Amino acid sequence: MKKSLLFIAFILFSAYVNAQCASNAQGNQGSCMCNQGYYGTDAENGGSCNQCPDGTSTDAPSLSAGGNTNASADISVCNQCQANFYMTAAAAAASINNAASAAQCSNCPTGTGNNGVQNQGDVSQCNICQANYYQTAAAVAASYGVTAAAVSCQQCPNGSTSVAGDAQQASDCQQNQTTNSKILLASVSILALCLYI
Ligand SMILES: *[C@@H]1O[C@H](CO)[C@@H](O)[C@H](O)[C@H]1NC(C)=O
Ligand SMILES: *[C@@H]1O[C@H](CO)[C@@H](O)[C@H](O)[C@H]1NC(C)=O
Ligand SMILES: *[C@@H]1O[C@H](CO)[C@@H](O)[C@H](O)[C@H]1NC(C)=O
Repeated sequence: MKKSLLFIAFILFSAYVNAQCASNAQGNQGSCMCNQGYYGTDAENGGSCNQCPDGTSTDAPSLSAGGNTNASADISVCNQCQANFYMTAAAAAASINNAASAAQCSNCPTGTGNNGVQNQGDVSQCNICQANYYQTAAAVAASYGVTAAAVSCQQCPNGSTSVAGDAQQASDCQQNQTTNSKILLASVSILALCLYI
């Protein structure tokens, strides 16, 4: 009696374990897909999802051709750069002489960034200023006789901040609300109230 109950529990537990997607995967049994930034050929029944190399990512999770969880997915589906990286080499499928490779992504210079890139480029892909920086010169793409350059960014003046990509000059940095300015606002409000009464 006890033994058969244990047996049933064991069968149910096995079914439960089998019904799980691999870690770093999403979806349901039969349609498990590796999360964005991971790749694998089988995200269920003991399959696994591998993390893309540093700075790289994948397109949105997909089982179809070229997708990060297709039966032929390999590291070359890591073909995008994460935000604030630029792409120095594209991902490549396996060939007779070479194993598949991921994109190569480098960190944008300090204070500069982007929202992620899908194609090979150069440092000019770092074309927005990060939060709390303002822009002093636009990024320059490489051309004949011209070296590529990232956008130029300076830190916002002391006591002020900016949202990524928003500030085109120092005056676009927003003054922090200091305690003093809050007290000033409160006292002006009270004064206005007194005049009104
Ligand atoms: C996976 O990709 C191959 C081609 O690489 C394609 O033939 C197949 O249909 C894809 N699988 C799914 C489920 O779309
Ligand atoms: C900004 O403020 C910090 C501390 O409040 C100070 O050490 C620094 O020198 C200031 N920088 C500038 C450029 O004024
Ligand atoms: C201004 O505000 C930002 C964000 O709230 C904070 O990180 C920064 O330290 C503040 N700077 C000063 C000088 O108060």
